[in-house]
Amino acid sequence: MSESSTKVLITGSNGLLGQKLVSYFQKNNIQFLATAKSDNKLSFLPKTNFEILDITNMVQVGEVINNFKPTHIINAAAMTNVDACEDFETECFNINTRGVANIIEEIDCSDTHLIQISTDFIFDGKKKLYTEEDTANPISNYGLSKWNAEELLFESGYHNFTILRTSLLYGVGEALNKGNIFSWALAELRLGKELNIVNDQFRTPTYVEDLVQACAKVIELSEFGVYNIAGKELLSMNEYIKLVAKYLNVSTEKVNSITSEKLNQKAKRPLSSGLDIGKAESELAYKSTDFIESLSLIDVNN
Ligand SMILES: NC(=O)c1ccc[n+]([C@@H]2O[C@H](COP(=O)([O-])OP(=O)(O)OC[C@H]3O[C@@H](n4cnc5c(N)ncnc54)[C@H](OP(=O)(O)O)[C@@H]3O)[C@@H](O)[C@H]2O)c1
Repeated sequence: MSESSTKVLITGSNGLLGQKLVSYFQKNNIQFLATAKSDNKLSFLPKTNFEILDITNMVQVGEVINNFKPTHIINAAAMTNVDACEDFETECFNINTRGVANIIEEIDCSDTHLIQISTDFIFDGKKKLYTEEDTANPISNYGLSKWNAEELLFESGYHNFTILRTSLLYGVGEALNKGNIFSWALAELRLGKELNIVNDQFRTPTYVEDLVQACAKVIELSEFGVYNIAGKELLSMNEYIKLVAKYLNVSTEKVNSITSEKLNQKAKRPLSSGLDIGKAESELAYKSTDFIESLSLIDVNN
């Protein structure tokens, strides 16, 4: 992707995906504007590339889009804390669904390509691996709010969109919020703490840089539609965190096994919501990084 006309607007730039997208576009000299609902938290982002944008604020959405005139928008903004989405239902739907409606409303009469990031939590978790064709049946506010956003896109009559569904994003970054289980587990394990991690929830953990590459590919190829972007390995949450412990040379005995019933989290989670990446592999030449290899790339020991 090298076209000088490409101008990418990133929402949620302080988040895990948002900040990795910023790094990518910066390194590749592609014009971009990073936006977040409050001040910029990224040390490597020049002031000229940043603006405040709360996607629930229609006036801000209009102003930022009209001033920057993006050719592409990657919506990485979301309320991602699944339990908080149960406690603060209105906020959850405002951000995850209404925010997307605001963006669609603003770009409706343009050619802007919207890349909406979605989730495996739109499924109920009764199937091992989900394809793009499987029927959504969310079991939490978070899942429903993200599915409602997808439905808005399908029903909007706006065709320039791509939905990338992902699962259990991991990586490290600056000033991440506490909801990210990977960075939380890294920090706790380094402190020698014991963790209770569920053994009956299965995911296909996704290295955040793989999702960045997928976004870049979608832009480069102008691919529209729905794609699953995830890792290849279906792991229980417990296996996943044990692999991280092993990599850190921390005893896996620090990672206790617990059932979802016993942990009793506020929001229901799908039991198995792995994503089948066959379509992305064949149509986007998507390659997921092996989990252990990704840990060495992240350099979790530093
Ligand atoms: N993390 C996962 O395991 C996972 C799995 C599947 C799908 N996804 C999807 O992947 C995408 C990126 O996730 P992530 O892990 O990068 O999430 P993240 O680290 O929580 O980042 C989301 C960002 O969105 C911001 N945000 C919240 N409300 C906003 C608003 N009204 N306007 C603008 N920005 C707002 C948040 O800011 P504050 O922190 O200040 O609220 C945060 O910086 C999301 O669409 C998520 O649903 C994530």
